[in-house]
Amino acid sequence: MCVCGGGQGGVIMDSVAPFVLLLLPGLHWTAAEDTSWTYTGMLGQSEWSEHFPECGGSSQSPVDVVTTQTKYDARLAPLTPLGYGQHGNRPFTLYNNGHTAVIELPDWMTLGGLPWLYSAVQMHLHWGSGGPSSGGSEHTINGQSAEAELHVVHYNSELYPNASAAMAQRDGLAVLGILIVIGEEANPHFDNIINFLSRIRHANQKVLIPAFDVQSLLPKDLGRYYRYNGSLTTPPCYQSVMWTVFHERVQISKAQLLKMETILYSSRAGDPERMLLQDNYRATQPLNHRVVFASFTAGSGKELSSGEVTAIVIGIMCGCVGLAVIVRFIVKTVRFCALRHRETAAVNSSTSSWDVLTNNRPAPMQRMKETDKAKEKQQEMVLNSTSQAEKRSSPQSEP
Ligand SMILES: *[C@@H]1O[C@H](CO)[C@@H](O)[C@H](O)[C@H]1NC(C)=O
Ligand SMILES: *[C@@H]1O[C@H](CO)[C@@H](O)[C@H](O)[C@H]1NC(C)=O
Repeated sequence: MCVCGGGQGGVIMDSVAPFVLLLLPGLHWTAAEDTSWTYTGMLGQSEWSEHFPECGGSSQSPVDVVTTQTKYDARLAPLTPLGYGQHGNRPFTLYNNGHTAVIELPDWMTLGGLPWLYSAVQMHLHWGSGGPSSGGSEHTINGQSAEAELHVVHYNSELYPNASAAMAQRDGLAVLGILIVIGEEANPHFDNIINFLSRIRHANQKVLIPAFDVQSLLPKDLGRYYRYNGSLTTPPCYQSVMWTVFHERVQISKAQLLKMETILYSSRAGDPERMLLQDNYRATQPLNHRVVFASFTAGSGKELSSGEVTAIVIGIMCGCVGLAVIVRFIVKTVRFCALRHRETAAVNSSTSSWDVLTNNRPAPMQRMKETDKAKEKQQEMVLNSTSQAEKRSSPQSEP
């Protein structure tokens, strides 16, 4: 995640790059964006810790979530976004900070289900470049990248007055990580962002966009997620983030992803050379001493596919039929035994219930009917060959 630029960005930069004091009063973004770090090259990830010491810390993000090494924690309740849909028709600000596309969020959007109340600050995306070994997401699950990742950043508004004050504190931030993969269909909710990227192609450009329901960008299942303590994934890499990475992935179409990957520049409008804004994701960091908790266990039922559900339904049906057969068998046996017991008090006990059943399957009534039918058949066939008719009509030959 990236909490640079934007309304509170000046505070970070003060400590980092003193030249960024070109903040214009009334404007919500830094006029001169911090370009003192990049994802690759001479100012790339491996060099971050030289200028931003916390980037070399032991609780950095993102991480690879190894699901077999996660620890189930029953206390991790479903998250409850509050006011995500109540944007009050005030437009959102979308801007290109040279590292990603950021949308500022109103702080009446809050997040429940955490130890404190957190208020929204902004959201932004990380993506790849569509290459064959394409990554894109920051977090990975069992070593697997998704195509992109959305981060919704919140600050602890119970303990701190604003995001700038919170972001360097250990319990300052809570970020939602949403893994994005390619699906068959376009995701209309993501068009609320993607359709406007053409208006902020160059770094430092910004545009007002119609507000929309931010929850529509989240997965449906907010109950199943991974939780760990980590950091901002961009300089200054403060280790202040309570991370929530959802288990359910969100889908966008290939065309939507392609637009995201190819439309923005990290260079400014006036720069002599245009630089595509691609592969803006950080490599996964060592977990070190940390534990990743899971709000669910791998075997819990919600994960069933429709195929599995069908198999289970069929299984249950077969089970019921089997049970019915057994019950019928028992009832018949009991009935027969009772009957037999009444008719003949002293019968040899060597006959097993199977013998009893096979030898006596037709009930008295049925046997009557069958013999009647047989007689009719016999009468019909008398005109034909008698030997054949005798064979067929013999009731004993029917087992
Ligand atoms: C955030 O809060 C701190 C402490 O109250 C204050 O000094 C600072 O000006 C605030 N920053 C912004 C951007 O409002
Ligand atoms: C994060 O750190 C805090 C403070 O050290 C600790 O109480 C909490 O259990 C940690 N949470 C996770 C998910 O590791």
